[in-house]
Amino acid sequence: MSSKDAKVRKVHVELGARSYDVLIGRGLLADIGQEMRKRGLQGPVAIVTDTLVGSYNIDQAVKKGLASVETFLTDRSEIDSQDWLVPAGESSKRLSQVEELLSRLVKRKIPRSGTIIALGGGVIGDLAGFAAAIYQRGINFVQVPTTLLAMVDSSVGGKTGVNLPDRKNMVGAFHQPKLVVADLATLDTLPPREFAAGMAEVIKYGAIADKALFERVAEGVKPQDKGLAEIIEKCVAIKARIVENDEFETKGERALLNFGHTIGHAIEGVTGYTTYLHGEAISLGMRAAAWLSVWEAGLPEAEARKIEATLVANHLPVTLKSEVDEVAILSALGNDKKVAADGQNRWVLLKSLGKASGRWEIPPIAVKRALAVLR
Ligand SMILES: NC(=O)c1ccc[n+]([C@@H]2O[C@H](COP(=O)([O-])OP(=O)(O)OC[C@H]3O[C@@H](n4cnc5c(N)ncnc54)[C@H](O)[C@@H]3O)[C@@H](O)[C@H]2O)c1
Ligand SMILES: [Zn+2]
Repeated sequence: MSSKDAKVRKVHVELGARSYDVLIGRGLLADIGQEMRKRGLQGPVAIVTDTLVGSYNIDQAVKKGLASVETFLTDRSEIDSQDWLVPAGESSKRLSQVEELLSRLVKRKIPRSGTIIALGGGVIGDLAGFAAAIYQRGINFVQVPTTLLAMVDSSVGGKTGVNLPDRKNMVGAFHQPKLVVADLATLDTLPPREFAAGMAEVIKYGAIADKALFERVAEGVKPQDKGLAEIIEKCVAIKARIVENDEFETKGERALLNFGHTIGHAIEGVTGYTTYLHGEAISLGMRAAAWLSVWEAGLPEAEARKIEATLVANHLPVTLKSEVDEVAILSALGNDKKVAADGQNRWVLLKSLGKASGRWEIPPIAVKRALAVLR
């Protein structure tokens, strides 16, 4: 019996010539070759993954799925993922790693008609996606997200890129994948802390755009929950609609995805990206933003409390560790402002659960008060 559930969920991202499908379900990697062939994708294939994901042999499932289809079988060595392993962790998202990947693509004679598969979390998706964006001015790529965060967020929308030594995501390109395959079986090995971090983004989608989704996750979600595929599908659909309306982030709509991220990014920055996972910092940022929303945008207090309870139920932090310096966070928010062309922070606040709006500038005293909530 195949381990595949009968149900394959599909979210279409409509971007004209750059449109693609996001497939969601358990056991989907078994059919990845067929799904790629259906979309005209060809070998040779480079499966870029990280050392940790590689150690779970998830690449074997991808290879098996590819091997069932002739197009990818021209030379078995072409799909040897050992060639494309990068060290696990955010520090691989750097230009020298891109250069390394590009030279391996040249060495292995991957033609412009070939395909890069990004197999891993957001780090691999951003890194391999960026290499795909610039290798021979752009080569096809497929996202195979293996973290919850990558499934609901980073694998969809076409943002690719790497960090500079002191600035996250400073270098990059928009390069949409040709296909995204989110196989829930890959989550079986994901550490609980990483799963919880992904839930922060799920909660974010509910808070900004879908009250019913929010209610659904309010009691906490577990990796084994039967409803997980549908929850992921709803998140991807929300992101897809936003990206369709604002592919290149020029209209402000895509910025709504930054709910909880203004303070979250500042917390990540002052703690050197080591104390908190991204989703954990966003959890703290959402709690603060929820109270800012009460004071500045009319969010009912009961809904802010519901957000707090939902974060806790999903094993996310809601108080800052004592060693984290509040003054440093405020000053990081100030630096952020200097980067913005008009010297103002853009905040995303909630009018009610499921309804977000962008807002320029918030009185500093309110921001201070919101940070105090995190103590
Ligand atoms: N492009 C976008 O739109 C976008 C959106 C959000 C985040 N991001 C980026 O995504 C990155 C964060 O992504 P992430 O949280 O997926 O981090 P990650 O890619 O570092 O993965 C987290 C950890 O889990 C491990 N892992 C991945 N899949 C696993 C599995 N199935 N089993 C066991 N271990 C597994 C990885 O090796 C890593 O150690 C950041 O760099 C962030 O900037 C990009
Ligand atoms: Zn995020």
